Formats: sequence, structure tokens, C-alpha cells
Amino acid sequence: MTQTSVIESLRSKALAALEKADTAAGLTDFQVEWLGRKGKLTVFLKSLSNLPMEDKKVTGKRANEIKTEIETALLEKQKILRQKELESDLKSQQLDLYLPGDPYPVGREHPISQVINELVRIFYGMGFINVGGPEMESEFYNFEALNIPANHPARDMQDTFYFNLANNQLPLPQMEAERSREEPVLLRTHTSPVQVRIMQSYPPPIAVVVPGRVYRHEATDATHLSVFHQLEGLLVDEGVSFADLKGSLERFAREFFGPQVRTRFRPSYFPFTEPSAEMDISCLLCDGSGCRVCKQSGWLEMMGAGLVNPRVFEYVKVDTEKYSGFAFGMGIERLAMFKYGVNDLRTFYENDVRFLEQF
Ligand code: PHE
Repeated sequence: MTQTSVIESLRSKALAALEKADTAAGLTDFQVEWLGRKGKLTVFLKSLSNLPMEDKKVTGKRANEIKTEIETALLEKQKILRQKELESDLKSQQLDLYLPGDPYPVGREHPISQVINELVRIFYGMGFINVGGPEMESEFYNFEALNIPANHPARDMQDTFYFNLANNQLPLPQMEAERSREEPVLLRTHTSPVQVRIMQSYPPPIAVVVPGRVYRHEATDATHLSVFHQLEGLLVDEGVSFADLKGSLERFAREFFGPQVRTRFRPSYFPFTEPSAEMDISCLLCDGSGCRVCKQSGWLEMMGAGLVNPRVFEYVKVDTEKYSGFAFGMGIERLAMFKYGVNDLRTFYENDVRFLEQF
């Protein structure tokens, strides 16, 4: 074979190979195989140096033409391939301006706050205004003035957390400086101390509700929390009777749980009310026929209540000849649990959005 036919055959083989390569990797392989340092064309071109001068001239010229031709064809094919890749990329990554955006999460009121607002609204409709008091209390307000003396067994039922303050320097402006130096300081176990504070500060008639956080030294389980909320109610006026208490609480129960709900009052005991009662409502699940939730009794315990004990009036210097009053206190998480059919109080405070979103 002459050098000329060898080089023409190399040319057609190279062009055929280039024709077949149609990926970026294929083209790189082609480049290495034909034009690389040990590529077929390169090796052939080098071998020409051994030819006689005359042949070198002719064949060398042709060989260089072919090399240029193939390099140009390769470049052209690379360009086309890049264009194709770009087009398919654009097609697959098209930006759809009409797609809906990512929803921005919007918060809402916590179910317990919703219940508090609902309670305050219902009682406001009956003339009660909403007031507050400190969560850090003196033993005097939390127990003493509510007729729960130091060795009274009722203190056992409401064990709490005491502060260890140097000289009992209470950071509470509303607390009398005199007393705060001697009185142990604790986290209030109920909202009842606010009864005393209000009666000390305002003359009757008084009609207030007190929603707020309370604390008990208690093991946490499905029905007990060591931090929870109560709603206290206090009404003081001339001629207030147990009938007023019943009427107000029955109306509250129907507004809060629905018109079908029935109530019942059982005798009970609280040191700061006399007589005292416990109000139950007909079970929301079985409507009174008995089920697992009401432990087959048909009733659910809702709150403590009673007529203000004259002893408390004496502490706050309300004239017991002229005035009488009623008070009640309910656990807010408990109300929420029954209203929404939640069976574990802890779920209210686990901050699981999937739970909270339902309210
Ligand atoms: N303070 C009582 C408790 O926490 C509830 C209560 C309030 C009872 C007002 C009677 C009157 O158990």
C-alpha cells in the first residue's frame, strides 16, 4: 500500500468513527484515539519523517490537510452536541411561573388561649370583668387568708414550690413590705389568692374572673400537670345566694359545652367557701348513660365552688352583715380536654404542630 492510500484510508476511518461518536464522552475518546499524543493520526504523521524528501513533501502536506479537516470536524461536532445538551437542559428545567408558591406557615392561638378567651367572653356576658394577680405569692395570700392555716390538711393537697429568697425580698410591688419580710414565698397553687387581693383593693359590688397559671408539686401524667391554668370567679354583693351561684354556673356550662348539657351540684369542702360544692356536668361522650370516660357514672367533675366563707370576709374586712358572695374555680386544661375530646393533657404542651393545627 502506498503512503497515499494509507493516509486516505486513515481519513475515512477517522471520519466514520467521528460520525458514530455522539456523546461528549464519545468525542473525548475519539480525540484521544486519533489526535492524542499516541493517537493514530499523530503516530502516522511522526512516521513520515522516515520517508525520502520527495514523498515527505506530498504525503506530509496531505496528511496535515487531513489532520486539520478532522480537527475541524471534531470541533464542529462538539459545538452541535453542546447546543443539543443546552436545549434539553432548558426543556427539563423550565421555570413555571404559574406554579403556586410555597405556603408560608401562619400561627394561631393556642387551644388553651382559645378556651381562656371563650371563658372570659362568656362571663363578661354575665357582668364579670377579667383581672389578674401574681404567680409568685406569699403563703398569706395562697393559704392563710383563705382560711387554710399552717397545719391544715388542705395544704397537703396543694403542695408547691417555695422560693429561697434572701430576707424574703419579694420582687412584687403589690405585696405589703411588712408582711413580705416574714412570709414564705411560693408559686401559687390556685387562682383563689386573687379573691383576697381583689377584696382588699376594691369595695363590693365585685364581679371578677381570674384566668391564670398555677403550680403544683405533682408527678405529670395524662391528667396531671405541674403547671396548668385555672379560672377563678368571685361575686360579692348584697343578698347573693347559692341560687345565684347555680344559675351562673349552669348558664356557663350550657354556653361552653352546648345547650344539651346537664349539671349537678354535690356537697364538698373548701376552707374558703361555706357551704361548698362540686359541680359536675353530664358526660359529653355518653350523655349520662355511662362510659369509660365518666367511669360509668354518667357525670364529669368540672369545678369547685361555694359561698364565700365569712372568715375570708373578716380577713379582708368586708361587712358580713351586709354582703355575701360566691366563688368558683375550674381547671382550664381539664375543660379543654373534655370540650375537644383530648385524652392526654400533656399533648397541649408538646408543641407538636400536627396536634395544635386541629384547633
Ligand atoms: N381553689 C380551689 C382549687 O384549686 C377551687 C375553688 C375555687 C373552690 C373557688 C371553691 C371556690 O381546688
